Amino acid sequence: MIDRDGLIAAAREAVNAAYAPYSEFHVGAALAFADGRVVIGANVENASYGLALCAETAAVTRAMNDGVRGGLVAVAVAGGKRGVPGDPVAPCGRCRQVLNELAQLGGTDPTVWCVGATETHEYRLSDLLPNAFGPASLG
Ligand code: THU
Repeated sequence: MIDRDGLIAAAREAVNAAYAPYSEFHVGAALAFADGRVVIGANVENASYGLALCAETAAVTRAMNDGVRGGLVAVAVAGGKRGVPGDPVAPCGRCRQVLNELAQLGGTDPTVWCVGATETHEYRLSDLLPNAFGPASLG
């Protein structure tokens, strides 16, 4: 059983670690794994603007650097301008692909909660990234 509210709270908390002086759009992501582990990340921008790393990518990188290779059951993404929640935050296209790598490795189709100030949208990763290209595609 996934602790939805706990994962959303973790994503909201992760927003505080964002380094986003250029866009001022602060994002936090929290990944839940089958063993109960939660891994968080926040966006990290760069003076060379195009090099910004998203919160979801930061979280996946942290998890995989810790040796995690599957078991991704849910993702929560939160944030907003200067960290103030507004509309639900949806993973960008690149992050969908990055999340898919970890999901496919473990054969899961995680729930994705896009968290906003007053509403949270729920998807499956396969809905956000249909016909995904992943590790299995390479034969
Ligand atoms: N951002 C994320 O961290 N995750 C997303 O899925 C959407 C965008 C960040 C990237 C950039 O630092 C800022 O939000 C504005 O695009």
